[in-house]
Amino acid sequence: MTDVNTIYPEFITLEESLSLDSRRVEELQLRHMNQYRTQIGLSAGLTFDIVKAEGCHMWDSEGNERLDFIGCVGVYILGHNNPFVLDGVRRYLESKALTMDPMALKPVTAAFAHNMALITPELTRTVLNGGGGAEANEVILKMCRIAAARTKTGRTRVISTLNSFHGKTTGAVNAGGKDVWRRWQTPVPGHAYVPYGDADAVEEEFKKGDVIMFIAEPIQGEGGIVVPADDYFYRVRELCDRYDVYMVLDEVQAGSCRTGYVWAHQYYEGLVPDAFTFAKGISDGVLPVSGVQVKEELYMAAYGSFDSAMMHTATYQDNNISAAVALSSLQFMIEEDVAAKVLERSGYVWEGLERIRSKHPTVLKEIRGRGYMIGLKFGSDEQGTGYANAIGTVLAQKHRVHTMTSINDDTILRVYPNITTTQEDFDWFLGALEQSIAEVA
Ligand SMILES: Cc1ncc(COP(=O)(O)O)c(C=O)c1O
Repeated sequence: MTDVNTIYPEFITLEESLSLDSRRVEELQLRHMNQYRTQIGLSAGLTFDIVKAEGCHMWDSEGNERLDFIGCVGVYILGHNNPFVLDGVRRYLESKALTMDPMALKPVTAAFAHNMALITPELTRTVLNGGGGAEANEVILKMCRIAAARTKTGRTRVISTLNSFHGKTTGAVNAGGKDVWRRWQTPVPGHAYVPYGDADAVEEEFKKGDVIMFIAEPIQGEGGIVVPADDYFYRVRELCDRYDVYMVLDEVQAGSCRTGYVWAHQYYEGLVPDAFTFAKGISDGVLPVSGVQVKEELYMAAYGSFDSAMMHTATYQDNNISAAVALSSLQFMIEEDVAAKVLERSGYVWEGLERIRSKHPTVLKEIRGRGYMIGLKFGSDEQGTGYANAIGTVLAQKHRVHTMTSINDDTILRVYPNITTTQEDFDWFLGALEQSIAEVA
């Protein structure tokens, strides 16, 4: 074997990459990746290097311990480097069965699909991707279009909710309810957007007679942790049944135990969507995994014949290594009763936040969300400048507590602890928040 540096003297090996000095990484990112995205983080003073991450803690190269209360916007619900999930992946790799052969049987994926159906028995079919949430939403958009072409002839429109976020690939971004993310792209026809939480507006669109699919998040994440009234999704379900429209829930951010339910829609007893998408937390950040869980009828309408079965394939679809990550995460969620623990433990931080809100009601106006999906609605100063971004920056820079505003509503600061978070961590966060408010407002 030839040493790579004899051919390309400046080639950086994996080992070398892991010990690169942070200045050099910045320089490489600025030169070879998107320099503007890199600059945004650097100039806001929010970019740092992580040399180790465990539970809800991260350590930078200067040895500072940081509190991760955003977890890559919902990915790390089981904690960074969760030993159970890592061990599952390791065991699969050690089995030496790793292959992406599309014709080989897929034992881990088949088991994962079986396990998923145990949790939501009315949704029996799984499509697993090796990608992110946007890809899962692409899968369901396409599935609904194909199914509708065969069962809802002449209808093509998709209804989604204003301010929603479903990812940034072409299909997903057109389903998303924020026009800023659709700039400079020819809009895909056949999308309409209604206010989130307004079932009457949904019905107005359905009455036009051309709708095939409704998609919404159980709780809007990027829209600013918006929780709809308790009857909203029941009404949408009833409308979808009455007007023969597929009801799809995007569980990418709210799912995987974050709200205190394995799937956030399980808060609504008896509510069954036609499909839901998942990503983020199901992988606990070990490898990119996303997927769709679908009712038999919808899946079969799209792909339930030999001539349609090959209409949606992908090299990494249903691959075993992604499934090994997802299966291990799911097993951990169930064995550790993560959802119940989130509900039980979240009381402490919600109470602490409420105490701070009652002391600073014009600064911290509202606490929203469910379980460990928490949004803090901040007010603004006399000049109209919102406090949320400034408080988020002070929290990170001074107190080493990482949170993040919602991308479609920057008055909301998101707080996403995880199952490893202790009362001590919550006290660190609550103390830091109180001091940051005092400093900024
Ligand atoms: C609800 C929701 N759907 C889809 C996505 C897109 O996921 P990804 O960024 O993995 O493509 C996100 C990402 O934040 C999301 O919050």
